[in-house]
Amino acid sequence: MARRPPKPSSDLRDASRGERIQLVLAKAGVGSRRACEKLVQEGRVKVNGVVVEELPAWVDPANDKITVAGKRIETAERHVYVMLNKPRNTVSTQSDPDGRRTVSDLVKHPSGARLYPVGRLDYDTLGLLLLTNDGELANKLTHPKFGVDKIYRAVVRGALDDEGIERIKRGIVLATRKAGKTVGAERLGAVQLRVHRREPTRTVLDLKLEEGRNRQVRRILAAVGCPVKKLTRIQVGPIELKGVALGQWRELTATEIRALRKAVGEGAGAAKRAKKAASKSRAAKKPAARGAKSTQKRSVRITSSHGPDRSRRTR
Ligand code: URA
Repeated sequence: MARRPPKPSSDLRDASRGERIQLVLAKAGVGSRRACEKLVQEGRVKVNGVVVEELPAWVDPANDKITVAGKRIETAERHVYVMLNKPRNTVSTQSDPDGRRTVSDLVKHPSGARLYPVGRLDYDTLGLLLLTNDGELANKLTHPKFGVDKIYRAVVRGALDDEGIERIKRGIVLATRKAGKTVGAERLGAVQLRVHRREPTRTVLDLKLEEGRNRQVRRILAAVGCPVKKLTRIQVGPIELKGVALGQWRELTATEIRALRKAVGEGAGAAKRAKKAASKSRAAKKPAARGAKSTQKRSVRITSSHGPDRSRRTR
């Protein structure tokens, strides 16, 4: 079969393609601008398989495949997604003015990418913390509009009674205090809850929250008389804490990244889903037809896939 002729390199004379090639090479760390020009003049640089014959030449760093002496150059910044199993005594920031250990001290990605924590865990909270350099996805994962829920496993002091369980499920009202005085009250959202073990001196339970208020789980449980002894985040949206020991990190798999994107309405099929959601909302606004199915939101149970065995694997 006849091969398609290579694209003529004269394409590269079109300045609307993007950036000058020597600049792109220099930014990718190949060498100084001058040295990169020399590499081009020596015929060692190819764009999409074709030797660059002359300067000036413009390339599209995000889409062109650029090689120097046969080696591919990484031009656009690669997005990196990491799961850290955060230990206690670690701040969820990149640096700490008080010199405490930070999550950035624990996650040193070989690419040198600067990774930002997605949301925060308290200094003493353990478990799943995502880090990424994909700012857009990170914002969506933390924005209340996208309602990405989180599941926490708490070990608390005392036996949490049925009344306490009901109060938490309905949504606790907490006093807002300033300078030692009560200045108001706030109602926290309803919480889904599952008790794993209830003993006279301790209770082990999972709480599923959509909100992300400061020390929310600790405040909820203290309000029902069961202060937290140990708190571990075990799930964020579709991502479960697994395959990573305490204090260690790993990259998310392609499947996990796809699931995260889906959770915030991005990725394959997002346009279709948005259209479906819009038509559903239009239908909901119409007067209900007789015999139509109720559109009331059903409460969702916490998934049963995070029993004690699974948590043991990760801690
Ligand atoms: N709720 C808390 O109380 N602490 C955390 O770290 C996260 C949620």
